[in-house]
Amino acid sequence: MSEQLITLIDLAEPGEWRGTPGRATAVAHPNIALVKYWGKRDEKLVLPRTDSLSMTLDIFPTTTTVRLAPRAGQDTVTFNGRPATGEALRRIVAFLDLVRDRAGSSERAVVDTENTVPTGAGLASSASGFAALAAAAAAAYGLGLDATELSRLARRGSGSASRSVFGGFAVWHAGSGTPEEADLGSYAEPVPAAARDLDPALVIAVVDAGPKAVSSREAMRRTVDTSPLFEPWAVSSKDDLTQMRAALLAGDLEAVGEIAERNALGMHATMLAARPAVRYLAPATLRVLDSVLQLRRDGLLAYVTMDAGPNVKVLCRRVDVERVAAVVRGAAAGGAVHIARPGPGTRLLNADGR
Ligand code: DP6
Repeated sequence: MSEQLITLIDLAEPGEWRGTPGRATAVAHPNIALVKYWGKRDEKLVLPRTDSLSMTLDIFPTTTTVRLAPRAGQDTVTFNGRPATGEALRRIVAFLDLVRDRAGSSERAVVDTENTVPTGAGLASSASGFAALAAAAAAAYGLGLDATELSRLARRGSGSASRSVFGGFAVWHAGSGTPEEADLGSYAEPVPAAARDLDPALVIAVVDAGPKAVSSREAMRRTVDTSPLFEPWAVSSKDDLTQMRAALLAGDLEAVGEIAERNALGMHATMLAARPAVRYLAPATLRVLDSVLQLRRDGLLAYVTMDAGPNVKVLCRRVDVERVAAVVRGAAAGGAVHIARPGPGTRLLNADGR
């Protein structure tokens, strides 16, 4: 294996999954899909319709501590110090129930999460959130999981969380066969990439940090159920994945960008054709898209991807990142712009916080 290949694979090495029984803290980073996950074949098991592939970021970590509370009658959850309520609380309690079921425990837990990413803005807060929760809860309840099992578990919280278990680039397999068989085969794993040749950066333009009108879960469901464009996109996404793997291995960032951009635009086309349509793209989104086209005409390598929200992520070479960020900042008209690089996988912290 060449030295270049090793760099990102090192990032992908998962941490240790042992913690102090009864209490554990984990850190996870968001990931941005270059070949998207859009559509489930099984809602309960969170089994996707297609394989997807992502890059884990080095910014916006989520840190989650899970402490067992033997005498408590219910779970207590806080986000950045504020009590969680409604759907967010319900999803976390359901996830803890899954962990308790596997651990043969009925003990309630106190969950404290520090999120540094704007929640609900299509910036993958559920990916880092459920990856950190899965690692911390599994350790606190004494489940001895390897990285594959942790990825399968994180998937049940939020599909994209399965990929945040790993650093660098990760592919999430859809799994095949019966739902029970697919459940076993649906996990993420690191993807070999020629890290030094790729040397990627991501410029993230937050054109709107508010929560979205339609959740990605609902938008996905509606797209699969009603969009005539969903099946063709799912078919072409398979080719995109094959070509993406080859481009990463070859260190061809231009091909990576081209594939990622067409896959994301295709995903948004499936939503626009849903009934009723789901449209996340805002006027400011299109201004950023136009600025990226101009960057390409000026000879720079720059390609976009967007998730379930109006924000835009621009893939470029690391050496160009300041120039790309300046142009994107101008187009984003007042929106925050962040710069990310490939980041590490999920890890547990020691008792001293390291
Ligand atoms: C557009 O993982 O948030 O970001 O499994 O329903 O929790 P659930 O969905 P989620 O969806 C992410 C969709 C996406 C594309 C991607 O990350 O692959």
